[in-house]
Amino acid sequence: KREANSVFVMFGALGDLARRKLFPALYQLQHAGLLEDNCLILGVSLEDMDEEKFREEIRSRLDTFVKGEAPNPDSVEKLLAKLSYVAIDLAQAEDYAKLATALQGIQYQDLILYYATPPALYAVISEHLSNIGVVKDNTRVVVEKPIGHDYASSTQINNHLAQFFRESQIYRIDHYLGKETVQNLIALRFANSLFESQWDHNHISHVEINVAESVGIEGRWGYFDKAGQLRDMVQNHLLQLLCLIAMDPPSDLSADSIRDEKVKVLKALKPIPHEHMDLLLVRGRYARGIIEGKVVPGYLEEEGANELSQTETFVAFKAEIANWRWAGVPFYLRTGKRLPEKLSQIIVHFKPAAHYIFDPDQKRIAHNKLMIRLQPDEGISLQVLTKDQGLDKGMRLRQGPLQLNFSQAFQAGRIPDAYERLLWEVLKGNQYLFVRRDEVECAWKWCDQLIAGWEKLGIQPKKYPAGSWGPASAITLIARDGLSWHEDL
Ligand code: BG6
Repeated sequence: KREANSVFVMFGALGDLARRKLFPALYQLQHAGLLEDNCLILGVSLEDMDEEKFREEIRSRLDTFVKGEAPNPDSVEKLLAKLSYVAIDLAQAEDYAKLATALQGIQYQDLILYYATPPALYAVISEHLSNIGVVKDNTRVVVEKPIGHDYASSTQINNHLAQFFRESQIYRIDHYLGKETVQNLIALRFANSLFESQWDHNHISHVEINVAESVGIEGRWGYFDKAGQLRDMVQNHLLQLLCLIAMDPPSDLSADSIRDEKVKVLKALKPIPHEHMDLLLVRGRYARGIIEGKVVPGYLEEEGANELSQTETFVAFKAEIANWRWAGVPFYLRTGKRLPEKLSQIIVHFKPAAHYIFDPDQKRIAHNKLMIRLQPDEGISLQVLTKDQGLDKGMRLRQGPLQLNFSQAFQAGRIPDAYERLLWEVLKGNQYLFVRRDEVECAWKWCDQLIAGWEKLGIQPKKYPAGSWGPASAITLIARDGLSWHEDL
């Protein structure tokens, strides 16, 4: 028998996620010396091929999908030596015998099951795995979004998983939690008393969370049209960012302490009242436009598009959190496809000085802003006010950054991709960067009421040209409160 500390079984090993993210991440872990020598990776997919062919396939994919420098040949060989392959039709019970045989040939301690498959298959795979006796107390299962389409379907998926795994065995991925700067929100807030002492309604006037993408739907019309930007991005990534910004300090860094605090935020998130929804929410859909000098098609002109679609590719809204810390502090969230650039940024606007003694015309700019840039160029910048230089300037104020650009300041080299961090945490059995069942379900409940509202009121997506910051009404949404989105300042 081969001996292994951990066996990592990847279902969907020849699929898109495995190609673009999982194997490149495993390669980076290998290259960084973080994959134990006796860890085995067992690819599972439908295609009939032997181990050699599978290794060659992965080798050629690594050449294409590892970003930055060309893959190091030695690390590639070491990774490939860990790979084996079993061809299985995941829906066929009898096929799982092949997997059972492969696993019986290995003496292992930890078994990690990665379902890089559509969620509709989670229940079937789990059941068959349980029938062949591989699901044990220490087995971990990793699942991808979307966990459902709404609250009801997410509970169904979670119930199926719960039939076979305890919550402490389930690793639900939200890849934003694997991003270095997202984890830095925890360090920034809770290691710097400077910020934590100011982090409430007494000092903060409002918060912006912007996740802009310049890409369209990248050939995924079929999936995307059923989801839309709210389900695809807000239910998971944006609400996770909101939780990390708004949560109370956890008592420690354990998975449950952090997740308990995040759930409290989701529970305190006020439903957007249906009667005011047209003022508090904007849905948009990109039309033909120009991105980086190139004409790009509109959403309804994309391949496979159905002209009757009413799906949004942009959403902006004003949210409020009903608790002491955030009483009266609006959170403006905005995310969309085909916006001018890829930019994820959180901006915490502090209140102006209690007694303002400078030029009244400058009052509008006279507050501090903490800008946390998640991507690209991860970094943090605190906008501070100083006196403008020059004899003739009197006490005119100017705003300038105290800036920390991670790659320049720490010369840390490459910033690991989210999946590297997440796979590494799964291998270590650490759940703090994974989403707990109640988080997923609370987030769905909140999104469901929003969707019910726009369906009831018939709020249709408004057109915006690709390459713009969304429909004009997204500007009005924040301008009504006397504010503007950051890039408009
Ligand atoms: C995914 C969404 O979860 O996140 C995609 O399904 C989106 O639509 C992607 O493009 C964005 O991720 P990132 O890491 O590129 O910001």
